[in-house]
Amino acid sequence: MDQRRGLLELLCLVLLGWTLLRAQAEPDGDPDDAHGRVENVEQKMSCPENCSCTEEGAVDCNGASLNEFPQELLSEQTRQLSLQNNQITEVTLEHLSRLLLLETLNLQNNRLTTQGLDDEGFHILEKLSYLYLANNKLTAAPRHLPPSLVSADFAANQLTKIYPNTFGQKPALKSVYLHNNKLTDAGLPENMFNGSDNLEILIMSSNFLRYVPKSLPTALYRLHLKNNKLEKIPAGAFDNLSHLRELYLQNNFLSNDGVDNKTFSRLNSMEYLDLSNNNLTMVPLGLPRNIVLLHLEKNYIQSIAVNALTPIRNLEYLLLHNNHLRSRSIHPAAFQGLKRLHTVHMYNNLLERVPRGLPRRAKTLMLLHNHISEIGRNDLITLYTLTELNLSYNRLTSAKLHREAFRKLRILETLDLSGNKLQALPLGLPKSLRVLKAKDNQMTEVPEGALLGMSSLREIYLTNNHLKLNSIYQGAWQELSALTTLDLSANMLSHVPPDLPESLEFLHLQNNRISSVSASAFLNTPNIKGIFLRFNRLSVHSVSEESFSHLSKLQVLDIGHGNISPNRGRGEEEEDEDLPYDEEEEKHS
Ligand SMILES: *[C@@H]1O[C@H](CO)[C@@H](O)[C@H](O)[C@H]1NC(C)=O
Ligand SMILES: *[C@@H]1O[C@H](CO)[C@@H](O)[C@H](O)[C@H]1NC(C)=O
Ligand SMILES: *[C@@H]1O[C@H](CO)[C@@H](O)[C@H](O)[C@H]1NC(C)=O
Ligand SMILES: *[C@@H]1O[C@H](CO)[C@@H](O)[C@H](O)[C@H]1NC(C)=O
Ligand SMILES: *[C@@H]1O[C@H](CO)[C@@H](O)[C@H](O)[C@H]1NC(C)=O
Ligand SMILES: *[C@@H]1O[C@H](CO)[C@@H](O)[C@H](O)[C@H]1NC(C)=O
Repeated sequence: MDQRRGLLELLCLVLLGWTLLRAQAEPDGDPDDAHGRVENVEQKMSCPENCSCTEEGAVDCNGASLNEFPQELLSEQTRQLSLQNNQITEVTLEHLSRLLLLETLNLQNNRLTTQGLDDEGFHILEKLSYLYLANNKLTAAPRHLPPSLVSADFAANQLTKIYPNTFGQKPALKSVYLHNNKLTDAGLPENMFNGSDNLEILIMSSNFLRYVPKSLPTALYRLHLKNNKLEKIPAGAFDNLSHLRELYLQNNFLSNDGVDNKTFSRLNSMEYLDLSNNNLTMVPLGLPRNIVLLHLEKNYIQSIAVNALTPIRNLEYLLLHNNHLRSRSIHPAAFQGLKRLHTVHMYNNLLERVPRGLPRRAKTLMLLHNHISEIGRNDLITLYTLTELNLSYNRLTSAKLHREAFRKLRILETLDLSGNKLQALPLGLPKSLRVLKAKDNQMTEVPEGALLGMSSLREIYLTNNHLKLNSIYQGAWQELSALTTLDLSANMLSHVPPDLPESLEFLHLQNNRISSVSASAFLNTPNIKGIFLRFNRLSVHSVSEESFSHLSKLQVLDIGHGNISPNRGRGEEEEDEDLPYDEEEEKHS
């Protein structure tokens, strides 16, 4: 019994946590249900059919199959009225006129149209603080909402019109949700929040705005305008927003002509700025110093000027992927002094070299999918704090990768060199590596000493190269005392490698030319959990049964059908040539 109670309590906690999380969740996502929940205590007093009511004035008709406002039996003492998830089409002055104590009205997800919502209705509700009308069919907002309003949610309607007194003259107003509507600049009043100086949250994403609304209240700390048609930010539009912490401008048409070096310069509290997916060709000048996370990805950025980023002293994350950056158009001092900058994403650009002067405290550097063909001796010399370097899908060749290029990267843990044109596994890789990926190259060789001293290496991936057993130096794997995963699939191996380390747990050898597995192949790998040998040249007779019998931890032994198939008559060589290469492998060019 105790155990069951414990479980129940845990479940309640989980549910509570979930509810809290939902209540705080990004309103752009799913605004449903978070608001005005009421207790489910049945009372004997009058209560509309299909609803539950409490003595404290909460009436819950959530999802009660109502087609009409439940006027009858609704107590004048009602403070919280939950009518969400019904099919109500009309709310009139008469409906509301008795509910003078109403504080929360939740009408989300009904069938209300502007015609069905009495314009004068709300004005008389002098205590109304929370009004939820998301997911209806409103085309215009009510002309007058009461001055007591604290939060209003009109998301996911078809609004084209807001009136001066919809949100104006509301000194208590803190949050307004208007995302997913059809608002244009012409549909907004001159000074939408005139007399509503305490507004903190304004969400107007996914509308048709071309301009930032004028005269926004100075208390704002969250402003979302993503998915609009912004081309230009009018001069001074953000000048008074010294409390703004979070500004979403992604998915608009902002170009460098639409912003200038003063547009953002007064936003002294701003920590999070998202300008991704716009039409910028350079990093804008005048960004404020307290930004921590800066999204500039998916623009057409070609260059970074010397003083564009350096004033942002608190910058930690810089996202510049999917742009048109070339190394030579990034000023060598562009990152100077950015002591907190630890994560830089520059993948999918046009970089030919690792840019000079990258931030000295960088921990994660994503340079994949560029055109880097060369790494010189000193290209990485300042990056001694780097723990993750991703250089996959560039144009590196062994000849142009300097042997000493990695010498300063003493704490690097993850290195990805996949998808280059390396002919051999590079020498001089950091001994600190835990994960090394070099799949999809043209490697014919693991040269003597390439893996020497890598006692932390846990995973190595060399899939899809041209490695043969005798082109891997002897003892290469044996010294890797922490190695758990060795992936040599899609190479040209003729046998299971002889010198596997004791720590090994997963061995991928599929798609090779292995024709037999000897009884002693796995004698030194007692910890192995998975062996993958599919698509080789094995036949029933060439695999010794004793090979695996002592492996007490083995969970997966995948020999596949390969040539051990019922219709072996076709001849082994022939069938082998038809075998697909690792199909799950994404093919990059
Ligand atoms: C109560 O719910 C039932 C279906 O659950 C519905 O048929 C009935 O019309 C509802 N009553 C009112 C007053 O809407
Ligand atoms: C703002 O409200 C004041 C009254 O508080 C009024 O005098 C003024 O005309 C309003 N301004 C706009 C632009 O609506
Ligand atoms: C900023 O505040 C000043 C002084 O209150 C005011 O004159 C100006 O119009 C405001 N600008 C904006 C864009 O709201
Ligand atoms: C902003 O740009 C103007 C002209 O483009 C320039 O005169 C001014 O010095 C710049 N201000 C700052 C703070 O960079
Ligand atoms: C933004 O860039 C796209 C693609 O280059 C272009 O088609 C569009 O005209 C640009 N829009 C503006 C407003 O500059
Ligand atoms: C490098 O980046 C690619 C793409 O995000 C990812 O698939 C790969 O796992 C990364 N490499 C490492 C070692 O994390």
